[in-house]
Amino acid sequence: PYIWQEPTASQSVGLNLMAGALANKHVVLGVTGSIACYKALDLASKLVQGGALVDTIMSYGATQFVTPLAFRSITHRAVVTDSFDTNSEYSVEHVALAQRADVIVVAPATVHCIAKMALGLADDPLTTTIVAAKCPLVVAPAMDGNMYDHPATQFNIATLTNRGVVIAGPGIGRLASGLSGVGRLLETPELMGYISYAIGKNGDLSGRTLVVSAGGTMEPIDPVRVITNHSSGKMGYALAEAARDRGADVVLVTAPTNLPNSALVKVVQIQTAEEMGVAIQSHLDKADALVMAAAVADYKPSVLSDQKIKKSEDDLNISLAKTTDILKTATGNFVRVGFAAESQNLVENAKAKITNKKLDLIVANDITAEGSRFGSDTNKVTLIGRDMRVDELPLLTKYDVSNRILDRVRDLIGD
Ligand code: CTP
Repeated sequence: PYIWQEPTASQSVGLNLMAGALANKHVVLGVTGSIACYKALDLASKLVQGGALVDTIMSYGATQFVTPLAFRSITHRAVVTDSFDTNSEYSVEHVALAQRADVIVVAPATVHCIAKMALGLADDPLTTTIVAAKCPLVVAPAMDGNMYDHPATQFNIATLTNRGVVIAGPGIGRLASGLSGVGRLLETPELMGYISYAIGKNGDLSGRTLVVSAGGTMEPIDPVRVITNHSSGKMGYALAEAARDRGADVVLVTAPTNLPNSALVKVVQIQTAEEMGVAIQSHLDKADALVMAAAVADYKPSVLSDQKIKKSEDDLNISLAKTTDILKTATGNFVRVGFAAESQNLVENAKAKITNKKLDLIVANDITAEGSRFGSDTNKVTLIGRDMRVDELPLLTKYDVSNRILDRVRDLIGD
C-alpha cells in the first residue's frame, strides 16, 4: 500500500551534503510503458543522489518492463502502481502527493500518456496526480520516430507546451526498433537539467539575462599547438546552471572543456580570447549581468604560423602579444562581475582589479588553497564589492558558491 514516509536518517544526512536545485525537493516520477523505463531507474537514482525525495508512480505498461521493487529499492519509498487496488491507500493520498510535489516528471512518456495529459484525462494514478497538481510538469517523450512525427502527437505536445509544460526532448539516436531517428529518451544528466530548470523557473532571477563565461581560452601557435591553462570550466558551468535554476535566461560563452552541455542554457563555443570577446559583446545588449568566470589568456602568439613549426634549434622563442581585456572593455549597462585567481596577496590584488576593471563585484580565489585547485568541484572564495567590503565564504561546492554570487548579482541588478 502507498504510505507516506518521512525521509530515512541516511537520506537526511545526505541532504546536508547535497548541492543543487534538487536538495529536499519532492519529485513525483511518473514512469510509463516504454523500453526506456530502464533509464528511469538511473534517473531515479540520480534524483535521490541529488537530495530529492522521489515518489514513483508507474503505469501498468511500465510495470511490464521494470518492477516496482526496482524503483522502491532505489528511492526507499513506496511505489504507486494501481489506484483500484483495494489495498492501496493511494486513492486518498493522490491529492496529498500532488500538493506536496515540487515537480512532476514523466520519463519516459509514451505517446498514449502524452495524449492523455493533453486531454486532461485522469484514469490512472499518474494522470490523476497530474490533474490534481499545480506544480511544474516535465514530460520526457520516448517513442518510435513515426509515432513522434504523427500529427496527433505533435498537436498534443504543442498543447502541453502552450500550457507551460516543460517538454524534455526527445533526443535523436538509435531507437528500440533498431532504426535511428527522433524519439530517444534524453540521457539522465540532461533530464536532471530540465527538472532543475522546471523547479526554479519562477525563481528570483526569472526575466533576467545573464552572460557567463567559462573555461580556459586556447591561443593557437600553429595548426597543432595551443597555449592554454588549467581551467576546467566547472565554475562557469555551475554558475550558468545555478542561474538557470533560479529562472534566468543564460548565455554561456565557453572555451573548450570536458563538461557536458548544460540543458536549457544557450551555449556558445569559442576557442580564443578574441572569439570570446566578440561572442560576449554580441550578447550584452540584453544582459542584466556579465559574470566572467573564464580564464582568459592574457597573451597570445604574436604570429600564428599557418604551417606546423618544425623542430630545429635547441631553443625556440615564441613572441607573445597582449590580448584585449574583455571585462574591462565590455560596453553596456549591466552588472559586472569578475574573478580574480590569485596565488598571493588575494584581497589586495582583487581590490585592485575592482578599480581597474570598474567591477561591481569580484570573486577572489586562492588557487593554491586546498579545495580550490583547478578542476575541483569545490571552491573557497572571497567576495568583494565595490564598497571594498570583504566577505570570506567557507569551502562550498561550486554550485553553492554560484548561488552566493547570484544572491549578490540579484541585489545588484535591483528592480
Ligand atoms: N579577464 C578578461 N579578459 C582578459 C583577461 C582577464 O575579461 N584578457 C577577466 C577574467 O575573466 C577575470 C578577470 O578579468 O574575470 C580577472 O582575471 P585575472 O586573470 O585574475 O586577472 P588579470 O586582469 O588577467 O591580471 P593578472 O593575470 O595579472 O592577475
